[in-house]
Amino acid sequence: MLFTIISFLLFLPSLTSSSEAQTWIKEGYWNSGGQSQVRHIDSTLFTHLTFAFAYINNSTYELWIAPNDEPNMATFTDIVRLKNPSITTLLSIWAGDSNFSTFFSMATQPSHRTSFIESSIQRARFYGFHGLDLCCVKPDTNTTKMEIMGILFDDWRTAIDRESKNSNRSPLLLTLAGHYLPSKNTASYPMESIRRNFDWVLIVSYFYHLPTMENFTGAHSALYDPSSNISTDYGIKEWISRGLPAKKIVFGLAYHGYAWTLLDASANEIGSPATGPAVMPEGLIPYKIIKSYMGCDGEKLGYNSTYVTNYCINGSVWIGYDDVEAIKTKVSYARAKGLLGYNVWQVTNDDNWVLSKADVYSFGVLLLQIISGKRNNCSHGLHEDLNLLDYAYDLWKCGKGMVFMDPSLDDTNSSCKLVRCMQIALLCVQENPADRPSMLVFSSMLKNETAPMNIPKRPAFSTRRDEDEVQEPTSQQEIWSVGDVSITQMVAR
Ligand SMILES: *[C@@H]1O[C@H](CO)[C@@H](O)[C@H](O)[C@H]1NC(C)=O
Ligand SMILES: *[C@@H]1O[C@H](CO)[C@@H](O)[C@H](O)[C@H]1NC(C)=O
Ligand SMILES: *[C@@H]1O[C@H](CO)[C@@H](O)[C@H](O)[C@H]1NC(C)=O
Ligand SMILES: *[C@@H]1O[C@H](CO)[C@@H](O)[C@H](O)[C@H]1NC(C)=O
Ligand SMILES: *[C@@H]1O[C@H](CO)[C@@H](O)[C@H](O)[C@H]1NC(C)=O
Ligand SMILES: *[C@@H]1O[C@H](CO)[C@@H](O)[C@H](O)[C@H]1NC(C)=O
Ligand SMILES: *[C@@H]1O[C@H](CO)[C@@H](O)[C@H](O)[C@H]1NC(C)=O
Ligand SMILES: *[C@@H]1O[C@H](CO)[C@@H](O)[C@H](O)[C@H]1NC(C)=O
Ligand SMILES: *[C@@H]1O[C@H](CO)[C@@H](O)[C@H](O)[C@H]1NC(C)=O
Ligand SMILES: *[C@@H]1O[C@H](CO)[C@@H](O)[C@H](O)[C@H]1NC(C)=O
Ligand SMILES: *[C@@H]1O[C@H](CO)[C@@H](O)[C@H](O)[C@H]1NC(C)=O
Repeated sequence: MLFTIISFLLFLPSLTSSSEAQTWIKEGYWNSGGQSQVRHIDSTLFTHLTFAFAYINNSTYELWIAPNDEPNMATFTDIVRLKNPSITTLLSIWAGDSNFSTFFSMATQPSHRTSFIESSIQRARFYGFHGLDLCCVKPDTNTTKMEIMGILFDDWRTAIDRESKNSNRSPLLLTLAGHYLPSKNTASYPMESIRRNFDWVLIVSYFYHLPTMENFTGAHSALYDPSSNISTDYGIKEWISRGLPAKKIVFGLAYHGYAWTLLDASANEIGSPATGPAVMPEGLIPYKIIKSYMGCDGEKLGYNSTYVTNYCINGSVWIGYDDVEAIKTKVSYARAKGLLGYNVWQVTNDDNWVLSKADVYSFGVLLLQIISGKRNNCSHGLHEDLNLLDYAYDLWKCGKGMVFMDPSLDDTNSSCKLVRCMQIALLCVQENPADRPSMLVFSSMLKNETAPMNIPKRPAFSTRRDEDEVQEPTSQQEIWSVGDVSITQMVAR
């Protein structure tokens, strides 16, 4: 029975990166145009990392790499593999917005297609990437163009498979970052071709409302919208109804928000009148800036569960963005819909990896629910989860962990003893995300009985505090360093 539970955890939303077909994808873009350095990415939090961007040369139609990007591109895979040797990397090709016409000139001519395809494969291999991503071509009303796109995708896949055969290496992954709506008026993306040729499709689930375009505050990455169809839930249902299986869909998470200037500071809801962007020229603010400079905590921070978005009000500045609550809800949505995983734009906008570790937290809660036997009781909500965490922690701390367990569970033959599972789960729900394990470490602790573990403190968002937590030496908290041989045994207290 317990073995079944562990299997469930390991394989359903799989934590291992070995079985590609069943993997829960945790992908992130790294934007070479930003200021951040590749070596600062905590790659243990992801299964896939994608370098953004390469372009298409508008005269040769070969892949074009900006000279400034080349040094980072050449070392990207090696650097992110230092911390996580099993990470998979992709190279993303930008074909959106103003570069759309170059993309279509390329796709229309068979010889141009060949130039593009061959050079994309050659460059990906040359720089050590494991896949290619095509970013951000929107659906067009011209059905001829959509058909041409389908032909390009067929050719691309054929070439990738041929190269794999000839080189005796696994085929490059091929992924698409698509618009949240798969169609425009009556024309649609070439769905059959997409389903056939791509390993998965990222649905870009943000940029719905921008302060440069609209004079009303909006949830730019709304999961739901009661008053319009501009929402991720609507988009995903459209993709599925047009034939893309849920298992090929990756949910897009945004690690940035948009700031509006309110017309009247006292009217500060979603949909309140605004006069344009605030703080930044276009209003776009990375999550870490929202947290560090905008004072978005406490009373200023709101959460709207109708839209599934956070917002922050600071005087006449209104910022719509996703904080931990919204991210957790979206990740749960992606799991519940049977999607393949999620993708983050972009990883270094996170603040101390708080958002990227929201996923580990939800796993911790799930594991506690399972071992206590409360998993199949649908009536539990957030409040009850919190009580569950406190209850679990109190029992674990005084050595009575078994009182917590579902009596029908038997761990005699399991690699993960129940009390050990409980400790792992408690580590996942630590208040400080730095104290939570990465998914990689989490899965190795579940699978390996002798992997060392830290001692959990009282779980997150608890109203109670331990007296002995107050003066804890920080050196003992230096636990989750890097890599999968990563855990430094904590000094026993
Ligand atoms: C595109 O390729 C042509 C021919 O190699 C080259 O002259 C041109 O500089 C390239 N464009 C860019 C933007 O590098
Ligand atoms: C082609 O790309 C070059 C370099 O980015 C740019 O200067 C030029 O205007 C482009 N030509 C066309 C026709 O878009
Ligand atoms: C992409 O579009 C931008 C903006 O029009 C242009 O400056 C750039 O040259 C284009 N890049 C290529 C490679 O065509
Ligand atoms: C649709 O696209 C094709 C190929 O680019 C082009 O030849 C045709 O003129 C376009 N049709 C319309 C109505 O714009
Ligand atoms: C949303 O789309 C549905 C069809 O899927 C349509 O019936 C409905 O009118 C649309 N709602 C809005 C507000 O546009
Ligand atoms: C979300 O915002 C809308 C629009 O301002 C409001 O009508 C609704 O009550 C809010 N929902 C929640 C749960 O706060
Ligand atoms: C928004 O309001 C400002 C100030 O009233 C105005 O200058 C601007 O043009 C408006 N923008 C849009 C997109 O309506
Ligand atoms: C409001 O935001 C400004 C930046 O625009 C920041 O300097 C200030 O500290 C914030 N106010 C509070 C009370 O956090
Ligand atoms: C489900 O949980 C509720 C609230 O904790 C409890 O009252 C109820 O008895 C539970 N039902 C089952 C079948 O365990
Ligand atoms: C544990 O394994 C042994 C040997 O395979 C088996 O006899 C025993 O029934 C198992 N116990 C449980 C609780 O599954
Ligand atoms: C389990 O963890 C221990 C301690 O870190 C390590 O020495 C051992 O190699 C691990 N075993 C496996 C199968 O990973």
